[in-house]
Amino acid sequence: MPNNAVLKLGDKELTYPVIVGSEGEKAIDLRNLRADTGHITYDEGYGNTGSCESAITYIDGDAGILRYRGYPIEQLAEKSDFIETAFLVIYGELPTAEQRARFSALLTEHAPIHERMVYLFESYPRDAHPMALLGAMMNALSCYYPALATNDHKRDLENFDVAAAMALSKVRTITAITYRMSRGLPVIYPKRAFKYCENFMHMMFSDPYEHFDCPPVVARALNLILLLHADHEQNCSTSSVRMVASSGANLFASCAAGICALWGPLHGGANQAVIQMLEEIHATGDDGSKFIASAKAGKSRLMGFGHRVYKNYDPRAKIIGKACEDLLNTLGIKDPLLDIARHLEQAALSDNYFIDRKLYPNVDFYSGIMMRAIGIPINMFTVMFAIGRMPGWISNWKEVASNPKGRIYRPRQIYTGKTVRDYVPVDKRG
Ligand code: CMC
Repeated sequence: MPNNAVLKLGDKELTYPVIVGSEGEKAIDLRNLRADTGHITYDEGYGNTGSCESAITYIDGDAGILRYRGYPIEQLAEKSDFIETAFLVIYGELPTAEQRARFSALLTEHAPIHERMVYLFESYPRDAHPMALLGAMMNALSCYYPALATNDHKRDLENFDVAAAMALSKVRTITAITYRMSRGLPVIYPKRAFKYCENFMHMMFSDPYEHFDCPPVVARALNLILLLHADHEQNCSTSSVRMVASSGANLFASCAAGICALWGPLHGGANQAVIQMLEEIHATGDDGSKFIASAKAGKSRLMGFGHRVYKNYDPRAKIIGKACEDLLNTLGIKDPLLDIARHLEQAALSDNYFIDRKLYPNVDFYSGIMMRAIGIPINMFTVMFAIGRMPGWISNWKEVASNPKGRIYRPRQIYTGKTVRDYVPVDKRG
């Protein structure tokens, strides 16, 4: 493999080094290109651009491979749980029993939110979208815990363990309070004895008089959903987190940016959009065939299908598709949306439009059906994705903050506007 790439520009020949990642992925290092030539690279949507080096997650989109810190997603999905995987993603190694106990204790300690923050929720409209609230509340943590959010990376890293535990633990408390408030229900506080997912379900569905007993099958399903979302290298929201972090911003502010980026329907909002799509198909009596035809005609988009990186099956979709079926069987739920989803999948996978464009189900295609089955309301699906993605955002923030050679992210552009012209007084315009 060549060590260099040669670029010929006019009569100039320039040589740029090829850098190789630990899994053999190759990149041409163009950091000196502009200084050498006055040119920039143009790559709208960043499909060919490596924005950083990272040691967290490896994806081979053509082979359908996803690994956190080297561990295949299939093994983690089968053997681990969300909190152990969160530790792995954030700290780089699976925890020892002692590390796990300490991490859990820190999460338990930081599960409640500052009591004054409850009043913040009061001031939002009852029907505010939970993603809007989550972004606002995540950012608000910097106001309530300013010592952890100094915007001086050296100082913020000294308090990293606590800040990370707060973000990871409080994200689920904020989500549960949002749900309770939106329904006019009293806030339920976290319980020390419960594990992460059980505690979340308790804060969502217990009432002051009766505890909601989370069935183990539901806790397992929730663990799996969150674990499968824990990180996904340089996607839109994680890149946003790194972008904000690169300016020196604190962990909470950077994660708030990730939440905002995740909200859109082309990213985390897809899980909500999938269920809305399936409900619409169901309401019209279509088995999915008409919808496939309209997607092919460019009149609609088959939500939960396609991925910028995976050009083979999304490995998370394989795991979640099977888990979805198992969960519904165990709970004895017959969901017509699952039948439509299965039919859409079969129809799309045998259709040349989807085959040619390498469009396969992604993680969002089945996660919504699972969340529906365990009682999560549809407008909270993307928030669940955010809870799951928190370890990835936290570890990416840490990578940026700890990089001694880190520079502010600052892409360039090709300007296509007007060239210079003189100011026109108002009576001479038009
Ligand atoms: N349904 C129908 N056609 C599609 C779809 C789809 N879901 N996705 C892509 N295409 C077509 C697209 O119209 C284009 O066709 P043509 O070449 O004829 O113009 C071709 O496939 C390439 O699509 P693209 O939009 O250039 O692909 P992209 O890499 O920019 O977008 C994507 C990736 C995920 C945004 C897109 O596939 C999509 O919108 N999918 C639906 C939304 C979705 O499920 N998002 C969740 C992604 S996974 C969770 C996450 O990480 O956020």
